[in-house]
Amino acid sequence: MSGLRAATAVAGTNIALVKYWGKRDAALNLPAAGSLSLTLDGLGTRTTVSFSDALAADRLSLNGAPADARATARVAAFLERVRARAGLRAHAEVTTENTVPTSAGLASSASGFAALAVAATHAAGLGASPAELSELARLGSGSAARSIFGGFVEMARGERDDGRDAVAAPTLGGDAWSDVRLVVAVTSDAAKAIGSTEAMERTARTSPYHAAWIASVPRDLAEARAAVASRDLARLGVVAERSALRMHASAMAAEPGILYWNPATLAAMETVTALRASGRAAFFTIDAGPHVKVLCTAESASTVADALLRTPGVLRTVVAAPGRGAHLVEVA
Ligand code: DP6
Repeated sequence: MSGLRAATAVAGTNIALVKYWGKRDAALNLPAAGSLSLTLDGLGTRTTVSFSDALAADRLSLNGAPADARATARVAAFLERVRARAGLRAHAEVTTENTVPTSAGLASSASGFAALAVAATHAAGLGASPAELSELARLGSGSAARSIFGGFVEMARGERDDGRDAVAAPTLGGDAWSDVRLVVAVTSDAAKAIGSTEAMERTARTSPYHAAWIASVPRDLAEARAAVASRDLARLGVVAERSALRMHASAMAAEPGILYWNPATLAAMETVTALRASGRAAFFTIDAGPHVKVLCTAESASTVADALLRTPGVLRTVVAAPGRGAHLVEVA
């Protein structure tokens, strides 16, 4: 069949500074509130999609090995939407390599579905605007909508039932604020106990703090937006810590409670607080896992990383700079 081809895309993961934790529509992954993130360089996903009439089903290989049934089904459901838009019947071979430890709380689904959205639409011969790619990536994973763009990115809650307005957009274009860093303190190599999709659903259903958490987000978003616009790291960092703690508080209060932290998570948070007490601008955030990500300046990054490495239980650190949005690297 003509028009069928392969495409490869790369995407960086992103770390939310104002968190997404709750949906207004689970089927379409529509967020209950907006969020704001930083897309990272280096930590991400590279994905190749090739459609072929010879395949009886979609196939997924993840980091060199065939993926399990669950991951394959999630990708196949995503490809089904691309096929429907392109009027295509062919199945696809998907090869994906993560440079982020999968399921370790470093949001591999964010870069994964952003790279898949870009590669699959190109391979299917579909033209898509960045907003349309963001919408498509969101259907795979809510946070993936943000990795379509580079640098600081805001995801809109949207009002529409069909989700056309629940898309991300850059807050500050590309490298307009490039001397910030996120230092990731890895505190465990174990897979996380409960994935974010299920955890945020349980939080919404059972946590008495869920409504208060969602109600608190618009103020944090406005504050974070203003801090990014004025490149005010301290102002942004204060919001980031508040947003992360409130997100985790809402999850901890679910039934049964969801606690992602381990002793090293708390120790790393204390290290950040101590760094700040000594005059260094450093601010933590924590996602659906035990790792601690620290926002600081490029100049402070090695000092912050050293202090985190000396923290009991911290296994290693990774320093990440702001990165580009998802993009095509190869079309065969
Ligand atoms: C804690 O995007 O993984 O990282 O939409 O169900 O796929 P689904 O969830 P996901 O949730 C991310 C949660 C978070 C916060 C954030 O990235 O904003």
